[in-house]
Amino acid sequence: MRKPVVGISYKTYVNTIDKATELVKALADVTEDEKEVEKFVFPSLGVMYPVAQVLKGSEIAFGAQNISPYENGAYTGEVSIESIIDMGGTHIEIGHAERQSIFHETLDMIHLKTKLTLEKGLTPVLCIGERERLDNKSGRKQVLKEQILTSFGEVDAALIEKVILAYEPVWAIGQAEAADAAYVHQTHEIIREIVKEAYSAEAAEAIRIIYGGSVSKDNVYEITTHNDVDGVFIGRFGHDPANYKQILHIVKQVKSK
Ligand code: PGA
Repeated sequence: MRKPVVGISYKTYVNTIDKATELVKALADVTEDEKEVEKFVFPSLGVMYPVAQVLKGSEIAFGAQNISPYENGAYTGEVSIESIIDMGGTHIEIGHAERQSIFHETLDMIHLKTKLTLEKGLTPVLCIGERERLDNKSGRKQVLKEQILTSFGEVDAALIEKVILAYEPVWAIGQAEAADAAYVHQTHEIIREIVKEAYSAEAAEAIRIIYGGSVSKDNVYEITTHNDVDGVFIGRFGHDPANYKQILHIVKQVKSK
């Protein structure tokens, strides 16, 4: 049994201490003592410390939307994983589409970050996804396979199942609607198949694959009703704690069946 996942990234939408702490406090309040779903938030990096203080003792984990590929040293302007660990962070988002398209992050960088995160015992939330809708199944598989294999690189195969793969088709991010459920389901099957073929049946069975890209309370049910979808990664529609509560509730219901 894979533990279901509901994650949120606030990107750089909520950047002041007051607003960010108020928001995560509200999330923690609506979450109460829910334990069956793995929950994490990625606050805007500049407000990580106050957010960490608020989430201490809650059922919601947190981490960074990005880290330096290097543990420490002369890397001006980067955020070290050492600081995230020191604050109690447990999850690291890696390779989001915006980091790749706007900040020119390469798959080699993504690999270094994935490797470092795993070696430090944290959970990488590794983003993958095709830029344009690819109805051709083998074409889609090819693109995702290259992303997965390059990002993992020579990572110890035993650690691969610790990764959460966030399937985020770039064309469905920031839209009014998510990718349609049938397309998402088929892609999650493809991703699990890639992990099975490249690593092992055990790794494919254990790894969590979640969907991100315009997830809302209205589409989460359809998206998660497939065995290969282990949860969701929320963006804008997680800014309202009431929506978050509903999304969490739906994922929990669907995955407990
Ligand atoms: P969105 O963001 O839900 O606002 O589309 C999702 C993401 O980029 O992870």
